[in-house]
Amino acid sequence: MRKIWVLDTTLRDGEQSPGVSLTSTEKVEIALQLQKLGVDRIETGFPATSPGEISSMQEIAKQVTQATLVGFARSKEQDIDAVREALRGAEDACLHLFLATSPIHRQHKLRMDKEKVLETAAAAIRYGRKYFSKVEFSAEDASRTELDFICEVVDMAIRAGATVVNLPDTVGYASPDQFGEMFRVVKQQVHSIEKIQLSTHCHDDLGMATANTLAAIRNGVDQFEGTINGIGERAGNTPIEEVVLALDTRKELYQAHTSLVLEELYATSRLVSKRTGMSVPGNKAIVGANAFSHESGIHQDGMLKERTTYEIVSPERIGVKTSKLVLGKHSGRHAFKEKLADMGFDALTEEQLQEAFHKFKALTDKKKQVLDEDLFVLMDESRDVSPRIYTLDSIQVSYGNQSVPVASIRLSKQDGTAIDEVAMGNGSVDAIFNAIDKASGEEVELEDYSIQSVTYGKDAQGEVHAILRQGEYTARGRGTSTDILEASAKAYIDALNKLLGRKKVYARGNITIS
Ligand code: KIV
Ligand code: ZN
Repeated sequence: MRKIWVLDTTLRDGEQSPGVSLTSTEKVEIALQLQKLGVDRIETGFPATSPGEISSMQEIAKQVTQATLVGFARSKEQDIDAVREALRGAEDACLHLFLATSPIHRQHKLRMDKEKVLETAAAAIRYGRKYFSKVEFSAEDASRTELDFICEVVDMAIRAGATVVNLPDTVGYASPDQFGEMFRVVKQQVHSIEKIQLSTHCHDDLGMATANTLAAIRNGVDQFEGTINGIGERAGNTPIEEVVLALDTRKELYQAHTSLVLEELYATSRLVSKRTGMSVPGNKAIVGANAFSHESGIHQDGMLKERTTYEIVSPERIGVKTSKLVLGKHSGRHAFKEKLADMGFDALTEEQLQEAFHKFKALTDKKKQVLDEDLFVLMDESRDVSPRIYTLDSIQVSYGNQSVPVASIRLSKQDGTAIDEVAMGNGSVDAIFNAIDKASGEEVELEDYSIQSVTYGKDAQGEVHAILRQGEYTARGRGTSTDILEASAKAYIDALNKLLGRKKVYARGNITIS
């Protein structure tokens, strides 16, 4: 069984999902969880895009010491210098350079001929190697590049000193057979190919990122790149959880393994979803809420007789605990602590535990049974470290189907002052949002709003997601409560805080890459 290296790009390609903007503290929190998951390489950002990106990469470098930290750069000296600054404190650093190679990109974007592409990339790799012992080179849009030119590019990268060469399907255009064939040919034709690690990086525009990645693995790549939950530009990147579970479940076929601690996958998926505000669809492979539910009577009957009739991956394998211990009004601190430890929250300080216990008790006044999902939400809120310029103090809504809804709210500001506002709206939610707008004095647009229940039953908590836009900036917010109006207010305020925080901290440049 050969080892496949995993490069996680949730914090770089993943953060390029529309509306996602993570604070530095959130990035560190995710990077620490990725380290716990055991990924070999963490791409922590694209430092030439903004000073904010550099400082969050530096913060990650101080705390994450067990994985190689990767910094992304165009094939330009100024970008390479930005990676040097961002990764200066890293225990183990890798520079990730890219340049497009396909005819479409050469002609329209770069306006370079093949010679110029080879020259530019080689110069950048050589410059990078002066400062980094590990340099990955990506031939952007490799899947739409002439095969003989790809072989030339890989050969050039090896000669110039790259240690990893990545051939991405940048626009999600490839199909598995053809993509696998590209790697087979490259491995067969490029002299000294064994000197480097060959890597792949796929996008999901045609829904084939996982299949293409597995085809590349079958044809000999040493590393694959992806994101947690498959988040990323447009339709997203290869979901890491899908590839590692395919390798694990079909060992006899792929004869390959990764170093990931699979039991950390579910916790990582949850954290990324909560912090990015990108919810995971119920039917998403491996980490979706329904991935282990069996609805049909025939399936349930089969499962009761023998689980493997319909279950190829057990929930426990990815860290989903199936404990049936349900907490409620009469549960004490001891049971609460045990339950949290069972769910993986075993490193809480006394103070954190006490705060969580108070919140739990408050929840049991509103909800009879507190289920695992409720506890996850409660713990996510306790650990939420996003900037809070405004906090919701109180809310009151008057609604009648024959009258105009009115919302009164009290927000407190970071400096301790309170703001009271009242507003009318087309509906209760609209009235709440109008009142918050009046209180903040900010002009924002609601781009998207959605609501789903965290668990089942009439007393279930509602989870609201809201996306706000102000000029060129967008931000996602999330709020939960047993009351959907309160959850809506919380989500709106969360998005507003992120929007304002982001405006202050980051003025991300307009350089993007998928
Ligand atoms: O999709 C892509 O090609 C990338 C880089 C690896 C260039 O994100
Ligand atoms: Zn990409």
